Amino acid sequence: MEELQVQHRLTSHLNLIEVPSSHEERAFSHAVADGLSKQQKSLPCRYFYDLAGSKLFEQICGLPEYYLTRTEQKIFVDHSNDIIDAVGHELAIVEFGSGNSVKTRLLINAALNRQEHLHYIPVDISSGFLKSSSHALLGEIDRLSITAIAAEYADAIPIIPAPKEPRLFLFIGSNIGNFNRVEAVTFIAKIREQMHSRDRLLVSFDLVKSVHILEAAYNDSSGVTAAFNKNLLMRINRELGGSFILSEFDHFAPFVKLDSRIEMRLISRCPQHVHINKLQRGFTFQQGEYIHTEDSHKYTLESFTEICSAAGLEIQNRWLDKREWFAVALLRSKKI
Ligand code: AVJ
Repeated sequence: MEELQVQHRLTSHLNLIEVPSSHEERAFSHAVADGLSKQQKSLPCRYFYDLAGSKLFEQICGLPEYYLTRTEQKIFVDHSNDIIDAVGHELAIVEFGSGNSVKTRLLINAALNRQEHLHYIPVDISSGFLKSSSHALLGEIDRLSITAIAAEYADAIPIIPAPKEPRLFLFIGSNIGNFNRVEAVTFIAKIREQMHSRDRLLVSFDLVKSVHILEAAYNDSSGVTAAFNKNLLMRINRELGGSFILSEFDHFAPFVKLDSRIEMRLISRCPQHVHINKLQRGFTFQQGEYIHTEDSHKYTLESFTEICSAAGLEIQNRWLDKREWFAVALLRSKKI
């Protein structure tokens, strides 16, 4: 099916390209019906991020146990200049994600310390987030122009502007951790397909460490991650007329060593039946049965290198924090 592309010029420095999602409007109800019908019930983590969920995630990032955001940020504070220096001059920055972060600003400023002007190209599914974060960036930073692409990543990749100058692609925030191996390789390979010889891909990822530290980050003592997880049930209640009683489910996020990942789960406290009006059907839960809501993979430098290699990329350079809890890797095409 031919996708309709709409282009708007919002200000002299901001263009917005919108590619309507290939997922239909009914995507959420379909995903819920599918996920809850499976032997192992599951829900896709992309639906965490409605307005309430996005606010809860921001709160997670500030939790004492959630070391990821702070640790990654410190790496960018210490090494943004090195990262920019490792890419050719007059670079453009392409970011998967809305670019609302301190890390993005650090990289943009590092680039502008070296070159006169920067073209920044954020890609995000939410055109609302894109517009507000783009306006915020343009308000703060001079010598910047933005082409914002509102689309699913897969739809956006082939239409990203390709100047002669090198591009630095960003996939940070350890978002790669949500992908299983096949999804990660597929995504990275798709970017590689579009990469010219001087383009680079910067990916950040969380490293394997003591189970204690990992599990504390996803089972925080103030219950914010539990609220974030249960917000999915709240969203089903609100948007699909579900009858979930939140107190009848427990949040639990164990580290599953065999798969090297944290699994976010919602465990039924008792045998129960939940009806969802919009689906015109119900779902039964045994006591102890759980809904699997998210995977957050943890890597070693070796396991991450292997994924990149399978996607046709190699690590040109990498930066770790002092404790070696988190990594940022700069990738280039493997010579064939
Ligand atoms: C946004 C995918 C990086 O996996 O750590 C945080 C999401 N889930 N707490 C992560 C999340 C529970 C987060 N990522």
